[in-house]
Amino acid sequence: MGIENDYELSKLYDTKYCLNVFNPLPISFTHGRGVWLYDADGRKYMDMIGGIAVNSLGHGNRELTKTIADQAKKLIHCSNYYVIPQRSELAFKLCSHSFADKVFFANSGAEANEAAIKIARGYYYYKGLPEKNEIITLNMSFHGRTLATIAATGQEKFRTPFAPAVPGFKYVDINDIDALEHAIDEKTCAVMLELIQGESGVHPADREYIRQVRELTRRRGVILIVDEIQTGIGRTGRLFCYENYDIKPDIMTLAKGLAGGVPIGAMLCTDEVATGMRAGDHGSTFGGNPLACAAGNAVIDQILDSEKGILANVNKVSSFLFDKLGELKEKTGKIVDVRGMGLLIGIEFDSSIMASGMKTLLMQEGYLVSSIGTSTIRIAPPLIINEREAAMFVTALGKILKGNRKGNIT
Ligand SMILES: Cc1ncc(COP(=O)(O)O)c(C=O)c1O
Repeated sequence: MGIENDYELSKLYDTKYCLNVFNPLPISFTHGRGVWLYDADGRKYMDMIGGIAVNSLGHGNRELTKTIADQAKKLIHCSNYYVIPQRSELAFKLCSHSFADKVFFANSGAEANEAAIKIARGYYYYKGLPEKNEIITLNMSFHGRTLATIAATGQEKFRTPFAPAVPGFKYVDINDIDALEHAIDEKTCAVMLELIQGESGVHPADREYIRQVRELTRRRGVILIVDEIQTGIGRTGRLFCYENYDIKPDIMTLAKGLAGGVPIGAMLCTDEVATGMRAGDHGSTFGGNPLACAAGNAVIDQILDSEKGILANVNKVSSFLFDKLGELKEKTGKIVDVRGMGLLIGIEFDSSIMASGMKTLLMQEGYLVSSIGTSTIRIAPPLIINEREAAMFVTALGKILKGNRKGNIT
């Protein structure tokens, strides 16, 4: 039974058999090419959200799909009991192009963060300081949906229904270095943060604040964990966002764009931090398997290929989008703020426009975005989007804003 081309039946089964945590929009896709997604009726949509910053190379990328198909024919999975060349190669590439010396592979962002939390605690445990186990994170952050990562997430709504929360987390406001300085005490083992808070509205941390956080954590002997699950792998115009801030963390977590859509997560750390885990302390059945790592290698190779110019493209299309969205802000008076970095951009509207209403109108026009909170839409398109496609999106947004000059969008 294949129901791929039967939207009504798929929707029925979804409602009846899938746990109702997503409330999906009334569309479904059969295939994609570049920045475009197609439904069973052949209607096309520009994917301006890229599976939430996942489809880094777009849909149907020839080299990536060939790598996945070839690897699937040879070997999809084998256990971490054995040396996995694809895993070794991806770890080598990630370390060669970052601050890190060691990588642990997982299957998702939350799992990568779990590994980061565990190794930060283990680091002090093995140094004979087991009481040094608290982690400070930021209010309005997002670090995942597992029990430890909802405890790390500085938003109570994610924790409340699932109490008791995992202990050992404290929260301070972003860009407030004094608050962080006061919060750090002899029990603090790590500070964990996103350089751009993606899920709470695309809020980049101030450059000076991050520089001070790095200096402070170093001075107080506290590990700095940077969650680059949304910002990593070219999203902000550098391979890793921390490069834009001129700092080096002690731990970094990755997932989303790393394998272009094949589930993967990674926790990267220095040799020093790596002493926080010993053989048998951590593991994963699927993490680092040949299929996911082959995909990761294909993605990294393309993103670092200067002839393909993907990072240059991110920077070029990003400044185009910031310019054009800035012009739209001036012209319509309905946009309050355009913020972000590279191809992770939040567009905040005034109180006459509900972000969810704007998301629906854009979808009806054939453009897919996500809404965050009441007033912001987020775009995180594939890194291969070109200026012409970006211009089409801005024109569609402008048309909706002009068409609604007097009314509200709800
Ligand atoms: C910054 C950040 N950390 C962690 C996660 C969790 O990743 P996953 O959904 O793959 O577990 C996300 C997901 O949106 C994220 O944006």
